[in-house]
Amino acid sequence: MSLFGVPKEVAVGTAMLGVAFAAGMLAGKRYPSLGFGTPRPSIIGKSSALQQYILDHSLREHPVLKKLRLLTADHPYGKMMVSCDQAQLMANLVKLIKAKKVIEIGVFTGYNTLNMALVLPDNGKVIACDINEDYVKIGKPLWKEAGVEHKIDLRIKPAIHTLDDLLAGGEVETFDFAFIDADKESYNEYYEKCLRLVKKGGIIAIDNVLWNGRVLKPRRDDLATQSIHRLNEKLLRDARINISMLPMEDGLTLAFKL
Ligand SMILES: C[S@@+](CC[C@H](N)C(=O)[O-])C[C@H]1O[C@@H](n2cnc3c(N)ncnc32)[C@H](O)[C@@H]1O
Ligand SMILES: *[C@@H]1O[C@H](CO)[C@@H](O)[C@H](O)[C@H]1NC(C)=O
Repeated sequence: MSLFGVPKEVAVGTAMLGVAFAAGMLAGKRYPSLGFGTPRPSIIGKSSALQQYILDHSLREHPVLKKLRLLTADHPYGKMMVSCDQAQLMANLVKLIKAKKVIEIGVFTGYNTLNMALVLPDNGKVIACDINEDYVKIGKPLWKEAGVEHKIDLRIKPAIHTLDDLLAGGEVETFDFAFIDADKESYNEYYEKCLRLVKKGGIIAIDNVLWNGRVLKPRRDDLATQSIHRLNEKLLRDARINISMLPMEDGLTLAFKL
């Protein structure tokens, strides 16, 4: 009998995959997004059993990604890392749109850089932007271990400069996907430059758009919150894109370039 109308072969494949993942989970930790840093608000409470259920019933993490996640969790700033459910969504989107060229603004230890490199074709590229090489050094050996180092073009300098280099180098409308996850004060500039770099039909993902709930009452002296809130308001009315704002982790906006 088919499972919920799924053809038998698919159901069997999925069941086998399920066994493999269950075995993987027994061998290591489960998905402890709840364990990192301070709990963040979400429509579903961050430390709720339901949130854990979502993680336990949707995550399929590549073993090297898992290794990098566990390594990063021990870092004093480990909570800066993207969450694994967000990363998995981005990998699925990158696959769905058959992306070849993507850009990551804010690499940290390189979890999402690796995540995207893993799903890009062999001739695909991630332009990875950060100012702090010490963070990146932590994850870099794992890019190699996963066999995707050749797809990653790391640029250590302020991301604005890298974006300007790309724009000046004739790469306007050549990118399929961008992920904005660096200093919040520059979000508007990152967005505007990415919008020029991304093709029509491409996607810009923006992290921390709920900023721990502070966007509800942005204080005048809180420049990060002001910046995020202003961009949120602008995106709502921006006719150049379609959007979805997801309550995943600290809020993830997806902007689809028209
Ligand atoms: C939230 S972390 C990025 C997390 C990462 N996306 C991941 O997958 O785990 C933010 C990163 O932005 C970097 N950053 C801060 N200001 C920057 C700038 N002006 N240009 C480039 N990177 C910057 C920081 O060094 C830090 O590594
Ligand atoms: C996408 O944007 C276009 C142009 O603003 C608008 O007409 C359309 O309704 C939007 N689609 C969705 C699904 O929001």
